[in-house]
Amino acid sequence: MLNLTVLVSGGGTNLQAVIDAIASGEITDTRIGLVISNKKDAYALTRAKDAGIETLYLSPKDFENREDYDKAMIGAIDEKGTDLIVLAGFLVVLSPEFTDHYRGKIINIHPSLIPSFCGNGYYGLKVHEKVLERGVKVTGATVHFVDSGTDTGPIIMQKAVSVKNNDTAQILQRRVMEEAEWIILPKVINAIAHGNVRLEEKKAYVIE
Ligand code: GRF
Repeated sequence: MLNLTVLVSGGGTNLQAVIDAIASGEITDTRIGLVISNKKDAYALTRAKDAGIETLYLSPKDFENREDYDKAMIGAIDEKGTDLIVLAGFLVVLSPEFTDHYRGKIINIHPSLIPSFCGNGYYGLKVHEKVLERGVKVTGATVHFVDSGTDTGPIIMQKAVSVKNNDTAQILQRRVMEEAEWIILPKVINAIAHGNVRLEEKKAYVIE
């Protein structure tokens, strides 16, 4: 049984997609043991509570330094016997100490086709604004392992989404979620739960 800890900061629609996929049997042999948010009022916490999942609020703001925050995070995550950490819209940049501690055990969902429109400053609506500004015709989402860089870890799965002429950033964000994020995140988790993701030095593969 793959035991997940999901880290969130916002609305939690990706968390909901995982909760729903476990409930429907699309993801099997998996449970969410803990949801951690750095925002007290994140709606994601309500979604977790409604699903009967344990939640924890831990913000770097309440700690004197990064080391202490990392220690508290690692303590909570390890106490639950976590096998995989899922970043589902988590807006805190993780320290190299944290990512090294969990090498190959953290995945993130990013709302573009990495290596386009990613890295520092590319989060939330900004990603989609930049996509529209550049006028690309195809965007999408990426699930990748997390390393010490920003959006630089091995790519596990991607899905393309069309950009339409009259798109606003909000409309595009919603389409990328519906057509890509909420589909590939559960797929990757299920693949990991069944030992079907192979991680090499810089690349990852889903074994079909
Ligand atoms: C998503 O677009 C995800 O790709 C990005 O942050 C957003 C989180 O949305 N990392 P939600 O909280 O899952 O609704």
